[in-house]
This record gives sequence, structure tokens and C-alpha cells, in this order.
Amino acid sequence: MKVLVVGNGGREHALAWKLAESPKINGVICIPGNGGTASLDKCQNMPMRIDDFEGIARFAGVQGVSLVVIGPEAPLATGLADYLLAQNIPVFGPTKAGAQIESSKSWAKELMTDAGIPTAKGETFTDAEKAKTYLQKQGAPIVVKADGLASGKGVIVAQTLQEARTAVDTLWDKGFRKLVIEEFLSGEEVSVFAIADGITFRTLLSAQDHKRIGEGDTGLNTGGMGAYAPAPIVTPELMARIEEEVFRPIISALKRQDIDYRGVLYAGLMISTTGEPKVLEFNCRFGDPETQAILPLLATPLDKLLLACAQQKLADFPPLEWKPEKSVCVVAAAEGYPEDYQKGNTIAGIKAAEELEALVFHAGTKKKGDGVVTNGGRILGVTALGETFAEAIAKTYQAIEGIEFEGMYYRRDIGHRVLPKTPSPSVNTPSVPSSKSFSSEDEKEDLWGEKTEK
Ligand code: AMP
Ligand code: GLY
Repeated sequence: MKVLVVGNGGREHALAWKLAESPKINGVICIPGNGGTASLDKCQNMPMRIDDFEGIARFAGVQGVSLVVIGPEAPLATGLADYLLAQNIPVFGPTKAGAQIESSKSWAKELMTDAGIPTAKGETFTDAEKAKTYLQKQGAPIVVKADGLASGKGVIVAQTLQEARTAVDTLWDKGFRKLVIEEFLSGEEVSVFAIADGITFRTLLSAQDHKRIGEGDTGLNTGGMGAYAPAPIVTPELMARIEEEVFRPIISALKRQDIDYRGVLYAGLMISTTGEPKVLEFNCRFGDPETQAILPLLATPLDKLLLACAQQKLADFPPLEWKPEKSVCVVAAAEGYPEDYQKGNTIAGIKAAEELEALVFHAGTKKKGDGVVTNGGRILGVTALGETFAEAIAKTYQAIEGIEFEGMYYRRDIGHRVLPKTPSPSVNTPSVPSSKSFSSEDEKEDLWGEKTEK
């Protein structure tokens, strides 16, 4: 069986790697892929634009692929799944209508509220002045969100009213004509992904990522500087609550909207200090780097799971099997990220890291001659497993230390929350400044084929 993976990040490398691991798979084609997928066993890159729906459909037809797995939100939000399904090509990833759960914060908020899903209280505004009047009434801290995909730069957690008003103006000036303003939630953030087939769902292991660029969870927000799984805060009891209070009702709500949602439902949750889960956001795709930590723990063949989902046969699918270990992924980024960074620097030491039993997932890389060079903000995700988090963390850092490229930056405290007797600076308090947020879309310019050298 041949599969096609759309995207070029660490998430897509992890998906391609896991799919290629299955004995049933004899070929994985990545559009456009990256330096890692280019040299993966059974895998090849196809240098096509991911907005070339017609080209992708034609290529999938000619190659006789059994499944197209769509990684990033942008092609989902613009209808790649709809286009392929119309040509009878099996797809893992929701249609444009389903992807609104990520592409429209106001739509998602309304859906959640109607379905009684616990989430921050919020209001939608199409008038900047009315939004500011509302801010004044609510006070700070408060959260201002753009309605629409914003390459991860659409959420501002404002500590002061002045910051919140500026956020409204900034988003308005960027052309967003719909804003969601919502209550600030404090607690600990976790990511839970459900594989949904339109009728039922299966949750994957929970994960937590480190969004800030700096150690101690400080500084600008990024697409994610590291992740680990499973998240100890998500006990089996809490997972059961998340399944019943979040995923079951959202799937029913989608069904009521006549949306046959087949793909990942990513719930970004805030867990309050008393253990109550509330949804911060839904995404229509796998999270990155969480996927790079979760998939190495999956013992069930990924191709079978994704195919069962695409064929709406999850109800009959056996329980998912997981390795008992802990998994930690540390992201190596280019100096300057999440702002400006250089590209084209040679990367050394990947083989040596792999020899230390680490998995090296590529994100912003491309092949150049016999080697690989940097080609984005987040460059690599290095994952290792261990019997304990301490062991997994030690193995990951031992591996990443052997990798080198000019301007290489990585946080040295990934997983600090899960190490014994460590205070929990991850708790999201209003005192942490956050003016910018970047998502897995930070490699977007490459995805759309517009390679702006930075
Ligand atoms: P979103 O894209 O909606 O997940 O927002 C991006 C990030 O902003 C989240 O991962 C949180 O760190 C933060 N955030 C979003 N909504 C809230 C909220 N209501 N309260 C506190 N932080 C939030
Ligand atoms: N790790 C955050 C995201 O994928 O959006």
C-alpha cells in the first residue's frame, strides 16, 4: 500500500516515519517533504505546492495511493480533503467545513457553547470599538483572538487593558474583521488528540509542549520548543472526563451540522488547579512537536488506524496499543526564531545522534548534495524514550548535544515540569508576557512554495 503525506514539518516527518514502519506500506510520498523525509527508507519527496489540489489529486491517482494524510491546517481549511474526496481518493483529514473548528475561532466557540463543552467565556465582535467597550467592562488579563488562520500570530494574551486594546487595533489593521475576546484561564496546558471518524473517536496519549522560546517558559511564543508524552497531569480519570465532556459532545455537535469529520481533533486544554479541563482551542490536525513525542510510543500500526478512520470503521478497531515508556522531544531552532533567522547552514551530527537511539525528525531542513541544510525556524526535533522521564530527557539531550549547525538553539529545560521535585513554572499566570504566538505554521512560506530567504 502506498500513502501520500502532505506537509513539510517535523509532524509530517514523524507521520511518514511511523507509516513507513508498517510492513503493509511499500511507499510513502511526501508533498513537498523535507530533508528528513527525503532520506527516509521507503519514502520519497515530491516537490509540489500544497495548494495545487488538482496536481495532488492527479498524482495520487497515477500513483494509486490508498490514503492521503494531510498534515497542516492551511490545506485543510482551503478544502484539499473535499477536492480529493470528490475524486474518490481516501483522505485522513477533515473537509473545509470541519476545519472551521480551527480556522474560525467564533464558529468553534459557538459550537462548543451550544454543545455545553467547558471553555472560556467569550464574545465575538465585528466592530473594533464595540470590542474595546467590552474589554473595558471585562478588565485584564484577557485574551484577544483573531477569527481565521493567522499563522499562529492571532492570539494575544493581554496582561493589561492597554495591551488588549492594542491587540484589537493590531488585528484589525491586519485585516481581521471578526475577533473573539475571551476570559483568561489559568492552569496547566495539555494537548489531547482524538482520531475521529465522523461517528466515534479514539484518543491518543496526552502530551504537553513548551511554547515559549526561553528557558523557564519565558519569552515569545513559538510553534513549540519541545514536548513530552504521556502528560502525567492527565490521569486515566481526567482522560475519561475529557472524552466524555469534550470529544463525545464535539463529535455529536459536528454531526448535527452535517459534518462528517474524519481526521484529528486536537483539543488544547487548560487544566485548572482544581483539575477542571476547559478547551482553549480545537485544531483540525496533529500538534507539532507533540506528534514527534507521541507517535514513537504508538505500537498499533498507524496506517491501519488512519485508514480505519478514513473508512469510518473506528468502532470495530481494536484498542490502541502503546509502549510503556516516556517520550521526550527537544526542538533545535535557528538563532533568532521565532523572529528572523538565517537559512542554508549545514547540519552535522545527525547520524551520531541516531546511533544513540534517538529519533531525529526534520522540520525546517532540505537536502543539499549529500547533506542537509537549515531551511526554516524550527530545524529538528530530537526524541528519545526512557523508562522514566529523567532517563528519556537525559538520552534526548545526550543525542542533541552531538548535533551542530551555525546558530543552533535549543532549550535545556524541556520536561522540567515532569522531573521530580521541580517547581511548576509552566502554570500560566498573568505575569508571563505574551504578545506573539507562532504555530506549526511557522514553516508556512515553504509550504506554499514561496521560499523567502531570511
Ligand atoms: P490558541 O491558538 O487559541 O490555542 O491560543 C494560543 C495560546 O494562547 C494557547 O496555547 C494558550 O497558551 C494561550 N491562550 C489561548 N486562550 C487562552 C485563554 N482563554 N486563557 C489563557 N491563555 C490562553
Ligand atoms: N504545539 C502546538 C501546535 O501544534 O499548534
